[in-house]
Amino acid sequence: MGDVLEKAMKLRGLSESALARKTGIDINRIKDAILYRYDFSSEEITTLSDALGLNEPGFRALIEGRYPVPCPCGLPFQLHVLAMPYGVGVVNAYIVAECGADTGILIDSGCCCEALQQVWPACIRHLDAHLVTHWDSDHGGGCEGTRARFGLAHCFGPGPERPGVRVLAESETMDIGAFRIEVISTPGPAAEHYCYLIRRRSAQPSKAVLFTGDLFFCGSIGGGFFDDRSVLEHARRLWTTLPSDTIVAPGHGPLTTIGTEREFNPFSTGC
Ligand SMILES: [Fe+2]
Repeated sequence: MGDVLEKAMKLRGLSESALARKTGIDINRIKDAILYRYDFSSEEITTLSDALGLNEPGFRALIEGRYPVPCPCGLPFQLHVLAMPYGVGVVNAYIVAECGADTGILIDSGCCCEALQQVWPACIRHLDAHLVTHWDSDHGGGCEGTRARFGLAHCFGPGPERPGVRVLAESETMDIGAFRIEVISTPGPAAEHYCYLIRRRSAQPSKAVLFTGDLFFCGSIGGGFFDDRSVLEHARRLWTTLPSDTIVAPGHGPLTTIGTEREFNPFSTGC
């Protein structure tokens, strides 16, 4: 909740004192809320939602500890979640693989090879490819070591150009093994940031997973270290254009779905 409050204030250009004036809520209670100590009344939650342009049902659900965390199911392939401790939270890498296969595609690599190794699934012994959403150290930090460990000629990712990386074009589609990968350019968390939409190749449309890096998470959006507005615009574009049952695999926090975030994400107002 503190994270959402802070990002919403930044997006609206509101300081703590400006928000206090606008809502009539004591500034010290706003400061406490940013530090995750809050006791807002129902009326105050409505007032804050209005002042910050937030999706009230989702903001309220977050504050009241009942934000929905769907249990993704029905994927026609395996999705391994590699959650690694990072700071006070976690950072996620993922592997998609055919059911029962010992090879797959790695998305992001955490902050270092050692951390990745700790959570590596024993059944995966080879890699067909390694994709990186962006080059923040918590997402691409294990890239080089992983490439060496699995003998990959290169990994794939956004720019800028760097050794051992094949820079993908915006909107590029590529087939690797059983999977089709669509590249979606989503700058904002970083100047160059990609989401990847991955589904099993088949004649019939099948359920897909969207790997969002730092663009958006279950119940929040990315920090917009490059451009806050761009984060919001790209998140909303994906919430409104992708099918509801698309599973979302974010760079931090639990899995969710497009439908859940469209309905509940505090920043999805107007979607
Ligand atoms: Fe991150």
